[in-house]
Amino acid sequence: MQDSPFQPRLMVLPTPGDVAQKAAALIAGAVRTGRARVLGLATGRTPLGVYTILSQEMRAGTLSLAGTTTFNLDEYAGIPADHPSSYRSYMNRHLFAASDIDMARTHLPDGMAPDPVRAAADYEAMIETAGGIDLQILGIGQNGHIGFNEPGSRFDSRTRIVPLAPSTRAANAGDFPGGTVPEKAVTMGIGTILAAKKILLLASGPAKAEALAAMLEGPVTPACPASALRLHPDATVICDTAAAARLSPATRGAAPAP
Ligand code: GLP
Repeated sequence: MQDSPFQPRLMVLPTPGDVAQKAAALIAGAVRTGRARVLGLATGRTPLGVYTILSQEMRAGTLSLAGTTTFNLDEYAGIPADHPSSYRSYMNRHLFAASDIDMARTHLPDGMAPDPVRAAADYEAMIETAGGIDLQILGIGQNGHIGFNEPGSRFDSRTRIVPLAPSTRAANAGDFPGGTVPEKAVTMGIGTILAAKKILLLASGPAKAEALAAMLEGPVTPACPASALRLHPDATVICDTAAAARLSPATRGAAPAP
């Protein structure tokens, strides 16, 4: 357990739609003003609404990702990038298809690399060469994971291949209709995430309430990977009322009223 020198800014909004609107506005604003030349992206159900709004803006011509470089947090191991359940496919489908982004500037870890250790080191090097991540988007797992950094992940961990917790595989079963969820994934480490200049974590729904309370009010410990964000000087949490249900009044008091 470590001291917690920082507390993420917290915004509690009524609905998942409000979370998506607010997050999309922050991300689009940062892109437009050149504060997010390198974006760290997340997958899962939570950011879908954000990507829908950003896609609408790009189709309307009010937002461009032409000059943006992206690095995704994670990818399943053992399935090819063009597998319909890969996170590459997810990103292409939900964000990049509507975008003027240069696809060569979109990066995800390689889940099929013959030499995973080397591929992970290369991913870290690419992030560094790009100048580091300006704004990292995160979701949170029900067990407090960020990316695929399961409980127990070291706070100085870097991109690497990891086993997935049974609870995470069960939570993600919907991504693999009729198939089995891979047992491993490649994920940025917690150290990689903490190196981002700015972090935005999104959470919605009652299933995230316990993880969010542990993250913001429990000990800062690898047992709750998301608690590492309390070691970052510029982290923001945007959640809906349902996800905030287990937060104490003191924590909630610091947030704008819904
Ligand atoms: C997944 C992803 C994470 C994501 C989290 C929450 O397993 N690897 O990056 O943030 O779990 O997912 P969801 O938003 O679908 O609840």
